[in-house]
Amino acid sequence: MDVYGLIGNPVGHSLSPPMHEAGYEGVDLDARYVTFEPPADGAVAAIEGADALGVAGLNVTIPFKQDALSAVDPDPLAERIGAVNTVDFTGDGDRPAGYNTDAVGAVRALRSHDVALSGTAVVVGAGGAGRAVAFGLADEGMTVRIANRTESKAHDLAAEVPDATGHGLAELDDLLADADVLVNATSVGMEEAATPVPADAIHAGLGVLDAVYRPLETRLLRDADAAGATTVDGAWMLLYQGVEAFERWTGRDAPVEAMNEALRAEL
Ligand code: ATR
Repeated sequence: MDVYGLIGNPVGHSLSPPMHEAGYEGVDLDARYVTFEPPADGAVAAIEGADALGVAGLNVTIPFKQDALSAVDPDPLAERIGAVNTVDFTGDGDRPAGYNTDAVGAVRALRSHDVALSGTAVVVGAGGAGRAVAFGLADEGMTVRIANRTESKAHDLAAEVPDATGHGLAELDDLLADADVLVNATSVGMEEAATPVPADAIHAGLGVLDAVYRPLETRLLRDADAAGATTVDGAWMLLYQGVEAFERWTGRDAPVEAMNEALRAEL
């Protein structure tokens, strides 16, 4: 039996175990997915310990994603993002391989809804999620505009991302006018009535991904739907970061529908 897992702190409400175990069942793989809660400074010890125990793969979540970098051999995207959320122990390198599937998760979530990844993307948020999404969309060749409450953080991130610019939230109206994709990578929207984007700035030509998945239907997505835009809820991003991890670990195509069903049953 293969063991996969997740390190996070706290890790109690993770949706990854049912999603991944539905995946194993879907391809008849004898595997389990378990959660671990190391102390906040324990990322490296946890990854080395998992390696020693023969764990096949680990997901990494808050607060360990940055610290995990030093325990793995990161791929170029994870290295540029500066955060690892997936560790693969099955290779024969000195260190396990490290990936950032949050970036690919956003890309695949948009693609699965036929949102074309060309032209301009507006990413709201410059924290961990914003970083991953900005690098992911830039790698697809999009011009990325990063808008953040603390504008200086948007400028700092934009300086690292190819072809990106940084902005304050007050510029969203102008930025969105000729944009093709909008991603909310802030936590705004977890409270029912809150949205980071003025409703009248959203137009029918946008593909809108909200990284918030509790609630699934955020005010931003309701506004986007009313404007005729294509909407992609946060569970799709969560799903595809998991699908990407599953495929890297197992070398097989993930049973996306089974994983999606198991995930949505929890939401
Ligand atoms: P994560 O890893 O989920 O991205 P984070 O690194 O704490 O979490 O980043 C949170 C993001 O949400 C930041 O971009 C933050 O903006 P600031 O950099 O100005 O703090 C944004 N954010 C959080 N609460 C917000 C609010 N009420 N209004 C606007 N942006 C908010």
